[in-house]
Amino acid sequence: MTTHPEAASLENLLHEERSFAPSPAFAAQANAQPSLYADAAADRLGFWADQARDLVSWHTPFTQTLDWTDAPVARWFADGTLNAAYNAVDRHVEAGRGDRVALHFEGEPGDTRTVTYADLQRDVARAANALAALGVAKGDRVVIYLPMLVESVVAMLACARIGAVHSVVFGGFSADALRSRIADAEAKLVITADGGYRRGAPSALKPAVDEALDGEGTDTVKHVLVVRRTGQDTAWTQGRDIWWDDALESADTFHEPVWVDAEHPLFILYTSGTTGKPKGILHTTGGYLTQCAYTHKYVFDLKDDDVYWCTADIGWVTGHSYVVYGPLANGATQVIYEGTPDTPHRGRWWELIEKYGVSILYTAPTAIRTCMKWGEDIPAGFDLSSLRVLGSVGEPINPEAWMWYRRVIGGDTAPIVDTWWQTETGAIMISPLPGVTATKPGSAQVPLPGIAADVVDDDARSVPDGGGGYLVLTEPWPSMLRGIWGDRQRYEDTYWSRWKGLYFAGDGAKKDDDGDVWLLGRVDDVMNVSGHRLSTTEIESALVSHDIVAEAAVVGANDDMTGQAVVAFVILRGEHADRAATPEGAAEVQQELRNHVAKEIGPIAKPKRILVVPELPKTRSGKIMRRLLRDVAENRAVGDATTLADASVMTLISDGLTATKSADD
Ligand code: WTA
Repeated sequence: MTTHPEAASLENLLHEERSFAPSPAFAAQANAQPSLYADAAADRLGFWADQARDLVSWHTPFTQTLDWTDAPVARWFADGTLNAAYNAVDRHVEAGRGDRVALHFEGEPGDTRTVTYADLQRDVARAANALAALGVAKGDRVVIYLPMLVESVVAMLACARIGAVHSVVFGGFSADALRSRIADAEAKLVITADGGYRRGAPSALKPAVDEALDGEGTDTVKHVLVVRRTGQDTAWTQGRDIWWDDALESADTFHEPVWVDAEHPLFILYTSGTTGKPKGILHTTGGYLTQCAYTHKYVFDLKDDDVYWCTADIGWVTGHSYVVYGPLANGATQVIYEGTPDTPHRGRWWELIEKYGVSILYTAPTAIRTCMKWGEDIPAGFDLSSLRVLGSVGEPINPEAWMWYRRVIGGDTAPIVDTWWQTETGAIMISPLPGVTATKPGSAQVPLPGIAADVVDDDARSVPDGGGGYLVLTEPWPSMLRGIWGDRQRYEDTYWSRWKGLYFAGDGAKKDDDGDVWLLGRVDDVMNVSGHRLSTTEIESALVSHDIVAEAAVVGANDDMTGQAVVAFVILRGEHADRAATPEGAAEVQQELRNHVAKEIGPIAKPKRILVVPELPKTRSGKIMRRLLRDVAENRAVGDATTLADASVMTLISDGLTATKSADD
């Protein structure tokens, strides 16, 4: 790997000498003991089989652990049968723990709901019967487009219970993004809500579903189930739309789970890749559940009296694995919160931690940096002493944010687990183990017991300690994706074609002198904004679909708050070129294009800055040199431009920018 943008700051990172050894008291009570590494190393497959038997209840026990003959599509525990919803709910009730709180729901306006495992069992059984009554059967796809509600968890589990495949679409995605996902999955049913609360006001959701279903390729959808959340006026299509409450009310509270093969699809979750078309990442049942339960138990040191809170939305993989499947399989008590951290005030999260006595918090670096900006006197106003383990996920956590998290939120004692994984990996892969690992600010450190990862150079050679390259996974793991929905070739090309037999994660990484892994961000055209994955190509396609845009190039520029920020360079079509000549005109163009991206993809994809330029830097073969644009976006001197077809382009761009600068800053 040649010049990685983070290479310079990396030198500082690698001289990180702070290290926090677990306290003897924590180590003594920890779920994870050093022997876990030894056990896994001695017999990796035997170790996974033990986890699968220990942590998951099987209807038919499996006898085979891994079948890799159809590589790179793995089959784990393939001759076993089970049901994910039964594992998440019923077995806890059967074990006499029905009164235990599963979910402390907190709505943004302050309404609350306490849901026990027995309540959850009743609701999931009803919803499963309701889905079946609507003709949804094993293998059918159901799209879930909901805010963070109890019903969202119930809807996912109801699908799992009948063997239907859920595909959750984040509520912040636009109608068009929703439409393409419904079409790709050929969904039979959509579950949505009238709306949700966002920053103190009801925000409608159902209109986006109506619009999506008016669009191309969505004829497969027969019904829409609508959760009543805000009570706002909602347009209704008779015969198609059904209120969730009405459907559940008439449904029986008994439902026999549909036992499925371990390799039966559990869900599809769309994520951004390097091309414009989102990939439907496919996960199956047995291996996924095993690794979710295992990581949740050991990485977060889950105990019976813990109150766990993962702040992720169910629209992302973190919500799937660490709000729904992992914690519920382990019978945890958790908090789920509908709203934003600053509504109605900036102490809302800390207030919830105090209120529910949260002991394990799992969140993203971007949230921590935002709270840092708001000032430590805000968390200082609440009692956070219940916290004993802190987790981080979604993007590299910079050492300052890590230290702040530890000191201000964790009272200088709670271990921090910086967990690296992806939608594709299904569950955590690289992370310290609390009680075992001496943690280092900024590093995800070590592959979990049972996981084989490495950092390699361009020729797939393992780099020595102190060296940098690409993160790869060298052995199959239980919760690995089983492919991209409907596109095996794309699965092989994307992850397995770079080096034979190695899974290419798309992340740059380094090993420090102790052999600990440091993640350095994506090396492909995927951006990470506030921990959300966005594709440069997808946003470029959205921009060029606007009438006034001739060409567009998008880069992720470093951003103190959001990790990366979307910066777009656009060339306007001839007759519109003059519009950006004045600061007012440029501001107007930018607004128009930002709104257009929000409409095409969703507000999370809106470029932070849009720069109107006369040309884009391209190689002789016509490939846009994003590296140079990144230099411009990050206000650096432009790097080596010798491979450009026309070397004067960069001067043209910087000259052009001085004109528009005042408008975007
Ligand atoms: C990044 C989120 C550094 C990485 C679970 C990965 C991280 C992408 C970390 C996956 C971490 C996730 N340190 N980078 N602890 N965790 N990433 O699919 O670039 O939304 O490839 O899954 O997030 O994002 P995804």
